[in-house]
Amino acid sequence: MSVTFSSKSRVVQEATVNLMASDNRSKYGWRPQLSVWWIGAAAACLGFLLLILILGVVAHNSKAIGHQDSKCENRISSLTADRDALRDERYQLKLDSINLTKEMEVLRDTLQEEVNRLNLSKKDEPCQEGWKTFNGKCYYFSTSGVTRSWESSRKYCKERGADLVIITTKEELNFVVQSYRVTWIGLSDREQENSWKWVDGSDLIDDGFWQVGEPNNHQNDEHCAEVSRSAKRFNDVPCERKFSWACEN
Ligand code: BGC
Ligand code: CA
Repeated sequence: MSVTFSSKSRVVQEATVNLMASDNRSKYGWRPQLSVWWIGAAAACLGFLLLILILGVVAHNSKAIGHQDSKCENRISSLTADRDALRDERYQLKLDSINLTKEMEVLRDTLQEEVNRLNLSKKDEPCQEGWKTFNGKCYYFSTSGVTRSWESSRKYCKERGADLVIITTKEELNFVVQSYRVTWIGLSDREQENSWKWVDGSDLIDDGFWQVGEPNNHQNDEHCAEVSRSAKRFNDVPCERKFSWACEN
């Protein structure tokens, strides 16, 4: 009985297995094998495409990097050439500067020698004939009895490489006044009223040279200065007046 039961159950088992196998076949048939094949093929294709893509990207980047590298190299060599040129230029400028400094020193020495020579020769040179020496300068006093206006007196001096006298010390004042009763000096305010200037453009510094109450621009017509022997001081008078004069150089 048991054997029968057992063989029956085996039959049932086999039937069940067959049924399941038949059921599986009916569910997937040959399809499972086909799907696996397609998936594998697709994956291989994708992998291949991915590989090509990666290779393409790598190749493109390598090319770009190579291009950049060559640009950099060109730039570096151009900058290096510029730097070398500038270095040469700087060296040349340094040489020029040294040479110019030497030349300048030679010129300065030559000039100084010339100045010294001229100073010496000037010292040795006596004043022109008819001129008087006082404290290393030359003075001309107009001929006795000859008078001129301030402007005409100045012209006379200038034609002889001099100008009307400029008095800066009391000693010089005493020296100038001794020749004539009244003498024109190189002082005027013709440019600007009450702005007294010497013929070399310098200002009259010392107001103590004026007579008391002068300059008074009497009748609004006094723009040139004279010095008188009696007062030993300056006075402003009309420039057209005619006096003796003193030149200096
Ligand atoms: C005045 C001077 C003036 C002169 C002109 C004198 O009486 O005191 O200031 O320059 O006359 O001649
Ligand atoms: Ca006056």
